[in-house]
Amino acid sequence: MSLEQTLNDEERLAELDADQLRQLVGLVEYDASSDPFPVSGWDSLVWIAGNAVQTAHFFQSAFGMELVAYSGPETGNRDHHAFVLRSGAARFVITGAYDPASPLADHHRAHGDGISDIALSVPDVDRCIAHAAASGATVLEQPHDLTDEHGTVRVAAIAAYGDTRHTLVDRSKYSGPYLPGYVARTSSYVKRDGAPKRLFQAIDHVVGNVELGAMDRWVDFYHRVMGFTNMAEFVGADIATDYSALMSKVVANGNHRVKFPLNEPAVGKKKSQIDEYLEFYGGPGAQHVALATNDVLGTVDALRAEGIEFLTTPNSYYQDPELRARIGEVRAPIEELQKRGILVDRDEDGYLMQIFTKPIGDRPTVFFELIERHGSLGFGIGNFKALFEAIEREQEKRGNF
Ligand SMILES: [Fe+2]
Repeated sequence: MSLEQTLNDEERLAELDADQLRQLVGLVEYDASSDPFPVSGWDSLVWIAGNAVQTAHFFQSAFGMELVAYSGPETGNRDHHAFVLRSGAARFVITGAYDPASPLADHHRAHGDGISDIALSVPDVDRCIAHAAASGATVLEQPHDLTDEHGTVRVAAIAAYGDTRHTLVDRSKYSGPYLPGYVARTSSYVKRDGAPKRLFQAIDHVVGNVELGAMDRWVDFYHRVMGFTNMAEFVGADIATDYSALMSKVVANGNHRVKFPLNEPAVGKKKSQIDEYLEFYGGPGAQHVALATNDVLGTVDALRAEGIEFLTTPNSYYQDPELRARIGEVRAPIEELQKRGILVDRDEDGYLMQIFTKPIGDRPTVFFELIERHGSLGFGIGNFKALFEAIEREQEKRGNF
């Protein structure tokens, strides 16, 4: 299958072609014909929020997303509100309990705001579930059809780390705004004059934090059950500061559109950022979502203007002659990156620019990364130490270090 053929409707809608996606998220050619669990890409990230009405507004007003569909009491959903938001090829579904007895309320009590479902687009739901069940995965929902006047969506779900799930979605025979039960909806929210059309175009990766000793088990799960392969591995001094440490391995699907770094805490002198996450999320869960942008400088400016706070990078990072030598020429002057606190990393394939927000909810758990790739398929290993030191400064302020 060529890259062009793997583009889904969302990507065509977002006016992204294969070259742009290759650049944005590091897509590679892949022959899925003998893959027992072929994954074509992200379907959506489903969030549970304490107040979905306001969180949906936040993602529109601050992150420039567009409301496209809705389900709630007015449409016959007596359990919860759900707002479907788009930015380029990325789709978020923001859900929040309407009925006090909703299971979403229990999930929120346990975990706070966060991602409950990393839904993936697959061409053959039944084939994936047959393989998952035979490989020992927990099947939460057997394959079934959801149908309305727009057609049929076939879905199933398997359990991932903690209370996180992967819903598997084949929407190739469906033309509705999201799923049966949802109605098309736009918002009256008007973007500011001069605001970029989109602040991000796609999801690059979603990081999972798991307990000490569980990382290899989950790496094995993604290998065995979903046919993912290793992309990278970070252990030891590379990703330790003087005080805390973690270990990380990255698995990816065949075409590299879906990348899952998996972190576990490592023993250090003080509490690891992963331990802080596990304590406040109440177990394993999704730690950060990397949003791919083709203009990280403009995106950071727009987000900052909306009050989004980023981790700060000390000036010493930019003055380090070793870093300057290592990163070489990048598309923006280093002073412009320094002004915004944007980090740069380079490897044999190219470079990337990245920056991290502070946690976006009440608990010190989920946050965003903005990433602009120029050839590099990496994750910013050269920045881990500077990044972790910035996180430790925040942990210290929160009294969790
Ligand atoms: Fe990341």
